[in-house]
Formats: sequence, structure tokens, C-alpha cells
Amino acid sequence: MDLSVEICGLKFKNPLLPASGPLVGDADKLLYLYEQGVGGLVTKTISTKAAKVPRPCIYATKDFVINAELWSEHPPEFWKEHVFPKLKGLDVPIIVSLGYTESDVDTLVPMFDSDADAFEFSTHYVGKSLDPIIAVVKTARKHTKKPIFMKLSPHMPDPVEFARVVKETGADGVVATNSLGPVYVADKKTGKSPLGSAGGYGWISGPVLKPISLAIVRKIAEEVEIPVIGVGGIAKVEDVVDYLEAGANAVQMLSGALIFGKQLYGKIVAGLPQALERRGYSTASEAIKRPVPIPAKYRRNLPRVDMEKCTLCKLCEYVCSYFAITVTDTVVVNEDACFGCGLCQSRCPVSAIEGVF
Ligand SMILES: Cc1cc2nc3c(=O)[nH]c(=O)nc-3n(C[C@H](O)[C@H](O)[C@H](O)COP(=O)(O)O)c2cc1C
Repeated sequence: MDLSVEICGLKFKNPLLPASGPLVGDADKLLYLYEQGVGGLVTKTISTKAAKVPRPCIYATKDFVINAELWSEHPPEFWKEHVFPKLKGLDVPIIVSLGYTESDVDTLVPMFDSDADAFEFSTHYVGKSLDPIIAVVKTARKHTKKPIFMKLSPHMPDPVEFARVVKETGADGVVATNSLGPVYVADKKTGKSPLGSAGGYGWISGPVLKPISLAIVRKIAEEVEIPVIGVGGIAKVEDVVDYLEAGANAVQMLSGALIFGKQLYGKIVAGLPQALERRGYSTASEAIKRPVPIPAKYRRNLPRVDMEKCTLCKLCEYVCSYFAITVTDTVVVNEDACFGCGLCQSRCPVSAIEGVF
């Protein structure tokens, strides 16, 4: 199957790219991911100074990752001398991630223009105003003809406005989204934050982020004509297809690999043809759609229970907020009480309930 996707004239072997983070922090790591078969490469965010990273800086459960990793712990000179020369000649596009201020970008874009096929600018630490972001796009555009992708942080108040404004200012695409924060977790043994950051705060990513990022991608794709790279919570091959169907032209993944292992990149690439086929596509680019806004529905559908699959576990009865389900040796739905909310169908552990959505 043809898995390739094209964005701003760049041909990616397939739609799965790594997201900026520790797994793309030097040449050996980038080459490892290349061997895993990713469609293109993205670097760790490089800034004018090496980051002083607090330790510990990564904490994960099976549902999320919290990090306090900042940007690259290596200075730009390290990347120039020890990373990009080793990536020369690879047959995938290389997106160089840079941050953060107008003055950083003024120094870094000319320095890396010959190494990059495209640039991605992190807007993570520049606040919620669009002004510093506009300044970054304008400064970057002055120094490069290569595609410019602006990476959106999910705390930006209006993602659609972000996409519109960066497009008008000269950017070519949006990457949505970065991790969300600040967040705080208490470790189950110590009751304290496991992170070494000031205050113990971090940024959350991984599966819990997917509904947030997917909504942002979808909204941008519905309202603005601009390429979008979807990022946030990808951990299985179906997640990739969800993003493509939400209008993403490609996707990036990091936390899935931090939770389940670095081999996940290769597994997802290998599973893509079947996953696309299951949704009726014969190429990856066929799945990329400009989403149409969905109208609200008000008609109630009642749940149907397949007693062949039902294990009588009673979870549907316990969770039903309308007290409409009773489980004895069968499942009885009180049709007058049922609100058609959908909770039982979404929570049934053996998919024995259908019909509500
Ligand atoms: C440990 C860690 C380090 C990260 N470092 C960067 C970074 O340097 N630059 C950046 O733009 N995003 C960074 N991110 C955010 C990711 O690139 C990505 O946008 C976010 O984690 C959501 O995707 P995911 O759920 O697949 O991880 C980092 C995330 C994590 C977990």
C-alpha cells in the first residue's frame, strides 16, 4: 500500500513521524528511529543555549506521561557538529525544531537552514499572546524559504485564530499539539511530585491528551486551509487513522513510545496498511479529509444488549446515571428512565451494548 503523504512539497514515506523529545535528542537516537521506518524525522527543540534540565524529568503511567524536560540539553554547536552531518543523505525529510524567541530564531534559522528540509517552531514558553509568535514567523521567514510549521501549545486560548494568524504571517503549517500544563502528580508511594522541577510541576502528554489534541486538529482543519500535523496521545495504529480522518496531513508520536517502548514506531508503521484498509482506504493520503462540521443530534437511541457477549458483570447497572439498567440473569433497560446518554455503551468491557451511538 502507498503510505506516503506530501506536505508543502515534502514527501514523507508514511504519515508517522517522531515528536520532539528525548528520543530525537541526538544523531544515534534519530538514526534508531529512521531504522524503525518513520516517515520523516523531527529533532528535539534546539535553542541558543543548552537547557539546564531538572531531574527526574519524566514520569509515566500507562495513560499519561508528565515531563519537565525543557529543550535540548545540547547547545546549537553540538547539533551543527555532531548531529546533522550524520543525518546527511537520509531519504526522509528532516524537520528541525527550534525555539523560542525572535532573537533565538534570528540566530538559529541561518545556522540550520542548510540542514533542515523544514522548520518547526515551538511556542511553548512564550505565553498566550500571539505577538511573540508572529515575530518568530516573520523573523524565520526572513531567513528561509523552507516550510515553516508553528507548533501549538494546548493552553493557547484560540487554536483556530493561532492557525489563521500564523498562516497570514507566512507560516506553511501547524503542528498540534505540544504537552498540556502545568500539571502535578503525587507519586503513589511518597505522596510527592516525582519531578525535580521547581514546585514539582510538569506537562502532560500521552493517551489522556489525545481527545484534546484531536479536537484542536479537527477544529483547525474545519476552519482554516493549512496543513496540520497531529500530535498527542498516539499509542496505537488506529490513533494515526483517527488523526488523518480529523484532517491531519501527518502525525507525530512520543509518549506512546515512552510508555510502551521505542519499538512502537516500527509496529505502528507495519500495522498501518491493515488499519487503513479496515476503514476502507487503499492509500494513506485517501484517509486525510477536510472534516465537515457535525450538527448536534437530539433524538434518543436506546441501548441494545447482546446477551451472547454479556458477562452479567453489572458495570452498566452500576454506572448508569439514570438508574435505567437492572442486571439479574439478564439485562433489563427501563425505556422510560433511559436518557440515551451513551455511558453504558462506552463503558461495557466486552462491547455487548450497542445502538446508542
Ligand atoms: C519528555 C518530553 C520531552 C519533550 N520535549 C519537547 C521539546 O523539546 N520540544 C517540543 O516542541 N515538544 C516537546 N515535547 C512535546 C512532544 O513533542 C509532544 O508534542 C507531546 O508530548 C504530545 O505528543 P505525545 O502524546 O505523542 O507525546 C516533549 C514531550 C515529552 C513527554
